[in-house]
Amino acid sequence: MKKGFFLSSFALCLHAKGASRRMVLLFLCILLGFSICVGTAGTAFGEEGVIYEGSCGQENTSGKKVLLAYDTKHGSTSEVAEKMAGELCASGLQVDTQLAWNVEDVASYDAVVLGSPIYWATFLPGALNFMDRYRSTLASKTVAVFVLSTNTDKTTGLVDENSLEFFVEPVLDQFPEIKPVGSIGLIPGRILFNEVLPMEFVNLKLSGYDVVGDLRNYDVESAWTQEIAALLK
Ligand SMILES: Cc1cc2nc3c(=O)[nH]c(=O)nc-3n(C[C@H](O)[C@H](O)[C@H](O)COP(=O)(O)O)c2cc1C
Repeated sequence: MKKGFFLSSFALCLHAKGASRRMVLLFLCILLGFSICVGTAGTAFGEEGVIYEGSCGQENTSGKKVLLAYDTKHGSTSEVAEKMAGELCASGLQVDTQLAWNVEDVASYDAVVLGSPIYWATFLPGALNFMDRYRSTLASKTVAVFVLSTNTDKTTGLVDENSLEFFVEPVLDQFPEIKPVGSIGLIPGRILFNEVLPMEFVNLKLSGYDVVGDLRNYDVESAWTQEIAALLK
């Protein structure tokens, strides 16, 4: 839809003359500016993918209450979060899953799992905003963190450990109150050129990004969730 809009605008521009060409160019500039805003923002301007929010594990009446907060732009983190929530509940916990932007209460939970995809070497704004808004409350909670990344090793398909140094530590350094338990979940993500925004596509191409596809790996997601479940119980 957005790509079609762009292409027809360009076609219009090629056929327009004089003043009308300037008008079309102006229109394209506005569209480009808007696209950059949307392309660099997280879900603040509307998410592209499906958002999962829900609760499970209500039958685990003696289980700890866990908030799984995440941000997403194209939906893959949402799908991962939903699967993780299911596994945490199966292991005896009570889990509420919410988009990080929508969280209004952290205090009533025993533990928090925070997930963000990496975009341009950092977390999405919804996850950063969540860490900032609840930094003092999170200081006294058990917190686990996972990220989706396509910085993967071509042979193993696993997220390269250097992602911790490049993408995760710089974020955690901003929030010294938050001390994640266990390992940081390094979850292979999904990047499909037919679903990214026009500006993302241009930026990815300009930066020579050649990793495309659904690299997610259920075994990796599950192994990390089990590790964390044991620590959250
Ligand atoms: C525009 C763009 C920039 C990205 N930048 C990075 C990056 O800097 N490092 C990385 O490891 N992955 C990067 N990724 C991969 C995303 O982390 C991955 O596609 C993730 O699964 C997207 O999650 P979402 O579908 O929940 O939005 C980028 C993806 C896109 C579309």
